[in-house]
Amino acid sequence: MNIAVVGTGYVGLVTGTCFSEMGINVTCVDIDAAKIEKLKQGIIPIHEPGLSELVGKNYRSERLRFTTDLTQCLDDVEIVFSAVGTPPDEDGSADLRYVLDVARTIGQHIKRYILVVTKSTVPVGTAQKVKATIQAELDKRGVSIPFDVASNPEFLKEGTAVDDFMRPDRVVVGTESDRAQELMGKLYRPFTLNNHRVIYTDIPSAEMIKYAANAMLATRISFMNDIANLCASVGADVDMVRQGIGSDPRIGSRFLYPGCGYGGSCFPKDVKALIKSASEHRYDMQILRAVEAVNERQKTLLFSKLENFFKASGETLSGKTIALWGLAFKPDTDDMREAPSVVVMDALLAAGSTVKVYDPVAMNECRRIKGNAVTYAADMYEAAGGADALLLLTEWKEFRLPAWDVLKKTMRQPVVIDGRNIYNKKEMHANGFHYECI
Ligand SMILES: NC(=O)c1ccc[n+]([C@@H]2O[C@H](COP(=O)([O-])OP(=O)(O)OC[C@H]3O[C@@H](n4cnc5c(N)ncnc54)[C@H](O)[C@@H]3O)[C@@H](O)[C@H]2O)c1
Repeated sequence: MNIAVVGTGYVGLVTGTCFSEMGINVTCVDIDAAKIEKLKQGIIPIHEPGLSELVGKNYRSERLRFTTDLTQCLDDVEIVFSAVGTPPDEDGSADLRYVLDVARTIGQHIKRYILVVTKSTVPVGTAQKVKATIQAELDKRGVSIPFDVASNPEFLKEGTAVDDFMRPDRVVVGTESDRAQELMGKLYRPFTLNNHRVIYTDIPSAEMIKYAANAMLATRISFMNDIANLCASVGADVDMVRQGIGSDPRIGSRFLYPGCGYGGSCFPKDVKALIKSASEHRYDMQILRAVEAVNERQKTLLFSKLENFFKASGETLSGKTIALWGLAFKPDTDDMREAPSVVVMDALLAAGSTVKVYDPVAMNECRRIKGNAVTYAADMYEAAGGADALLLLTEWKEFRLPAWDVLKKTMRQPVVIDGRNIYNKKEMHANGFHYECI
């Protein structure tokens, strides 16, 4: 089976690579020529555990190809996946420019039946826009070529993307024709052989499932952050509360961790897009507006805690050196899109602090975003050396058990603000640190 995957980012590259690993011939397409050139040389543009080996193996066996020109492979493929970005527009709605560009190219060049599958996260109704765009191009050409559209939203998580794709909890496929459903069934058969579930739906439901899933997860995080902040005021321990409620199978223990706010390329934009899409249908997503507001406030919480700490002794953050451990929006990725670290860095710099940062993989990404505004340390201890306070922002494994005795000697002041609740309060106090968490 031959397919094309358009957009070779986090989702497209993982999707294309994993399909090729299952014996399917995949052409990955991207308009970013530098990215495609690097991939051909075996250089993977993102940090994703296990991906590099799979790309190398399948590229060498010629099941995986890279190109900048979709039109070159259109005659040879049965299915085209569209996995291009859908960034938020100024008003929060999903910008469908790239999705519709791909549809236009397909409409301008197909010569025979093709199934066009949207993998990007898109509002309900997008598949119909894709269909109309392709049809409009066919009409311009004066040709009648059959095609189908389908929706196959992606649920992989950055950091475990390869494993998520190869062993999915579920695959959601929205179709509106038997032919499209049969093709998708054939494509995913290697996965269903391993008992992974494919859920067939209509197209609007498939599109909605992705947004509803992300909105639910974001809601759990903001809910726990709200509970955590109340715990702090009333003298309860949110960690105990988390365990107490998470043991109820109706609630479950996952995604109940309070922290310094959710970030990444998906939750913030998808929550925004769902609110916007509802408002276009004159419906007010009250819960999601609150989820968003709580998250925005939460991202500023660590800075406020730090500011208040210094204020208590009549000081300000101006002239202080603050160390940051963790820049990526979560561990095992170098993705800093909408990361709490960006909000914290900006606030500290505006307050006149010197910011020293360390992240195991996101240093280059930070250099791209922040340039020389912050100081880059070679390791976590160098970042904390001479600092007036240390902020933990991403719970990378290597941050979990630091040598506090070393830090106590090298930091200017023993102050730790833990944005992920990974340290033990009693232990920190016993080690002589001023310690605050969420
Ligand atoms: N990142 C995630 O964890 C994740 C998970 C599930 C779903 N999604 C969704 O998947 C989609 C893609 O996300 P991503 O994180 O992979 O984005 P990304 O920004 O990493 O990659 C998008 C790629 O598409 C390319 N592109 C844009 N227009 C193109 C065109 N006309 N032709 C060919 N290539 C083009 C860009 O150059 C870029 O390389 C989004 O809708 C996102 O919401 C992302």
